[in-house]
Amino acid sequence: MELPLVGLGTWELRGDECAEVVETAIELGYRHIDTAHVYQNHRQIKRAIEGFDRKQLYITSKIALEEQVDPKNPEKSVPKACESALEELGTDYLDLYLIHCPHPIFPLEKIFPLFEKLVDQGKILKAGVSNCNIHYLEDLRKAGLKPFANQVEFHPYLNQRELLDYCNSHQIKLISYRSFGKGKLLKEEPLFETIGEKYHKTGAQVILRWLIEKGIPVIPKASSKNHLKENLDIFDFSLTQVEMKKIENLHVNKRFCRPEDPVHKY
Ligand SMILES: NC(=O)c1ccc[n+]([C@@H]2O[C@H](COP(=O)([O-])OP(=O)(O)OC[C@H]3O[C@@H](n4cnc5c(N)ncnc54)[C@H](OP(=O)(O)O)[C@@H]3O)[C@@H](O)[C@H]2O)c1
Repeated sequence: MELPLVGLGTWELRGDECAEVVETAIELGYRHIDTAHVYQNHRQIKRAIEGFDRKQLYITSKIALEEQVDPKNPEKSVPKACESALEELGTDYLDLYLIHCPHPIFPLEKIFPLFEKLVDQGKILKAGVSNCNIHYLEDLRKAGLKPFANQVEFHPYLNQRELLDYCNSHQIKLISYRSFGKGKLLKEEPLFETIGEKYHKTGAQVILRWLIEKGIPVIPKASSKNHLKENLDIFDFSLTQVEMKKIENLHVNKRFCRPEDPVHKY
C-alpha cells in the first residue's frame, strides 16, 4: 500500500481514548496510523485495528535510539526493538519504520543498515528517518544509504524549502509532522481562516491543503470526531497560486517541537 496523503498522528493519544480515536479514524477512512515507541500506545492501536484488514492499513512506528538501542550492540537491539513494536501492535510487519531522532552516539550510517536488514527480512516494508536535516541526509547518502522517508516538522511557519527540495531531488518522501504547530499555529495566524472562508473550509483544512498541494503527506493528530472528519475533507478544493504564495511567505523559521534540541544545530 502506498503512503496515504493524510494519516492520523497519535502522539499523546493513550489508553482507551487512543483505541477509540483510532477506531473512529479508521471508520471515517483513515488508513495511515503514525505511532512510535515513545508514544506508549502500540497496544491500544492493536486493539483498534484488530479485525480490520491489515493490508488496507499503513502503519508507521519509530525506534527510540536512546531508550531501545544498546550502543555496544545495535545489531541485536535494533531487531529486538522492531520485534517489540510488531508484538505490541499485533502485526507481522510495519509499513514504515523510522529512526525517531538522530543521536551523536548512534551514527545513522551504522544504524540505518540494520533497518535495511529488517526490510530484507520482511519485518518492515520501508526504512526511514525522522528529524533529519540535510547534513544527516548527506551523511547517509555518502554512505550509500537511502531512507524512504524523512518525517520532520513542516508547516507555514517552518517552511523548510531547502530540505524539501533536497528530499524531492533524492526521492526521499518528506512527511510533515506538527502541521498545526500542535494547534498553536491556528490560533496565532489569521490568514488560514481568511483564505478558508472563500471555500467554506477551516484554517486547519487550508494548512493541510497547502501541504498536500506541495506533495507533502500529513499526519495531523485529532481526538474529536469533528476534527478527524475535517482533516480528511480536503480533497474537494484547491488553493490559487496567489493563496499558495501568501502562505509560503509566512515562514519565520519557528519550531513548535523542541526548538532547543541540538539535533537542529548539526
Ligand atoms: N517524528 C517526530 O519527532 C514527531 C514529533 C511530533 C509529532 N509527530 C507526529 O505528528 C503528529 C501530529 O503532530 P502533533 O500531534 O504534535 O500536533 P498537530 O497535529 O500539529 O496538532 C494537534 C492539535 O491540533 C488540534 N486539531 C486537530 N485537527 C484540528 C482541526 N481540524 N481544527 C482545529 N484543531 C485541530 C488537535 O485537537 P484535538 O486533539 O482536540 O482534536 C490537537 O490539539 C503527532 O501526533 C505524531 O504522530 C512526530
